[in-house]
Amino acid sequence: MAHRWTNKLTHNDVTPRTAFLNRRQVMAGLAGVGLAGIVKPADAKEGLGPNTWEEITSYNNYYEFGTRKDDPAKYAHTLVTEPWSVKIDGLVDRPGEYDFKDILSEMTIEERIYRFRCVEAWSMVIPWNGFELADLLNMAGVQDGAKFVAFETAYRPDEMPGLQYPVLEWPYREGLRLDEAMHPLTLIATGIYGKTIPNQNGAPLRLVVPWKYGFKSIKSIVRITLTDTQPPTSWNMAGPREYGFYSNVNPNVDHPRWSQASERPIGGGLFAKREPTLMLNGYEEEVASLYEGMDLAANY
Ligand code: MTE
Repeated sequence: MAHRWTNKLTHNDVTPRTAFLNRRQVMAGLAGVGLAGIVKPADAKEGLGPNTWEEITSYNNYYEFGTRKDDPAKYAHTLVTEPWSVKIDGLVDRPGEYDFKDILSEMTIEERIYRFRCVEAWSMVIPWNGFELADLLNMAGVQDGAKFVAFETAYRPDEMPGLQYPVLEWPYREGLRLDEAMHPLTLIATGIYGKTIPNQNGAPLRLVVPWKYGFKSIKSIVRITLTDTQPPTSWNMAGPREYGFYSNVNPNVDHPRWSQASERPIGGGLFAKREPTLMLNGYEEEVASLYEGMDLAANY
């Protein structure tokens, strides 16, 4: 990688001083209990305090387990995440079924505190643990002709009660352009607050693309395919006018049914104010060059 991204939203910067908990404690895993009680949602000025463990793991979208926000936390425990393997195929030098444990042994796990903006206009700040997708793709060896990366979630009707409803075309599918996939901000998350990622958040591995609407961040990945054509994606197939392939966070391009100019921070409590949505979710400096010369209203 030419450069590695450095984390600007550290706990030190974003947590109210009185609530500061040092990184070693977080990494030691005390966080699950500790932070839930200690870290306060951001006040309007600071704007960037991480959400609590409780908020991040109880307010979810994972339609394979139901469409209500509390369904995934209730039902996703039925998903068997061990053993787990990921098929990497298409235009790669070393295609195959990769065991998740073998993948992990090759990767460096980092903490990345990212803004997370759902297309439904709510947002959180989440301290992920994970590795760069680029490192995984390089492990498989991307071939010259590859231009896109396609992802698939597990399809297990016995373990995923939501699959009986035709809300989307299953399995859940997503995709990125290759340069988006190789960008150092693009993460495969395996943990939150230094703990193993819970099933409702996409265990054992899920994508996180912080400048795109949350639905691009596909959960519980079982297949990654390098291709030369833009892959079909579940939300785009369900509503092509409402959900584009790019789905970059953009306050100037409204969803046909609601404004994207502002967002509701989760955990703000009774006095929560909507906050202005930032261009590319605040990552303009890092990723705007990927879209130079593109009409972002046409390529929504
Ligand atoms: N991945 C799968 N397989 N199924 C889903 O329903 N929902 C998406 C995305 N990934 C979804 C998914 C949407 S709409 C959002 S906003 C995020 O996951 C939510 O992630 P979170 O529950 O960890 O906040």
